[in-house]
Amino acid sequence: MMSRGATTVVRSVVGQMGPRLFSTGVMKTSTAALVGSEKAMVAWWITSSPVNGARNASTMTLGDKQQKEEAVGGSATAAGSSQKAKEVVSYWGVQPPKVTKDDGSEWKWNCFRPWETYQADLSIDLHKHHAPTTFLDKFAYWTVKSLRFPTDVFFQRRYGCRAMMLETVAAVPGMVGGMLLHCKSLRRFEHSGGWIKALLEEAENERMHLMTFMEVSKPKWYERALVFTVQGIFFNAYFLAYLASPKLAHRITGYLEEEAIHSYTEFLKELEKGTIENVKAPAIAIDYWRLPADATLRDVVMVVRADEAHHRDVNHFASVTDVHYQGLELKDSPAPVGYH
Ligand SMILES: [Fe+2]
Ligand SMILES: [Fe+2]
Repeated sequence: MMSRGATTVVRSVVGQMGPRLFSTGVMKTSTAALVGSEKAMVAWWITSSPVNGARNASTMTLGDKQQKEEAVGGSATAAGSSQKAKEVVSYWGVQPPKVTKDDGSEWKWNCFRPWETYQADLSIDLHKHHAPTTFLDKFAYWTVKSLRFPTDVFFQRRYGCRAMMLETVAAVPGMVGGMLLHCKSLRRFEHSGGWIKALLEEAENERMHLMTFMEVSKPKWYERALVFTVQGIFFNAYFLAYLASPKLAHRITGYLEEEAIHSYTEFLKELEKGTIENVKAPAIAIDYWRLPADATLRDVVMVVRADEAHHRDVNHFASVTDVHYQGLELKDSPAPVGYH
């Protein structure tokens, strides 16, 4: 037996949900009883109301649709079909904007937009190195150095494949750091100083490196399996490291970026020697870095290497050594958002 409170709740829920759940059936009966102008009025209301239009587009039975078409004059022409297609597209009221390139041609990438593209700053110093001084610095440095050995053994001089595989790891720290800073901002009711955005930008940029290199080198099944395993280990290890010490985590990433610069420099040497073919640049790279139409793989590696140098700077800067030694917190030092 229901208590009075429970009965009230049930009544209220049924009162709210009833018309929604049963609206189709009600409409079917009522429209069938209508004639002429009344039918037209109902049809206008169905199609013109954003709420009812959307709901009926999803819940109407075939019979309902036929009645609706009949009410609007039975003009089931090609134009009518295109109207129906439009209804489906606008189901959630979202129309994808038409995006064009500077020359007016259609923008073909959904994964990034023209306003996210940029020209890489190739003048950046590629040789900058943070000399490890503190215990944490040395720990970070030797952790990264020790990871390089198995990587060298596994990939040898297959730099295309190496780049693709390493980018699957390189895109993790920015996302983990950004996510944890996001949660910290929520927890503490405080601003992030732009660091969430800066780190997520870095993750996105690294992922674009991967999207580029997978056009050049296709992963084999055992390489995919390796990525699966390494991601599981690295994501969790970096997550815990960032929780324990953002200073250490950013320092590790700073050194990883230094290694990435080294790898891409070796990649360029192989391209110049001709041991790796300097193929045409993938279309995605040409649009993302605003490269000339005749750009080659060498141009792509140059801009990616410049990106890595920027990530190196951001992470060494973010490493709490650089910021906390000045008595500041990360949020107090404005993040280099949009630093490419
Ligand atoms: Fe990268
Ligand atoms: Fe990087």
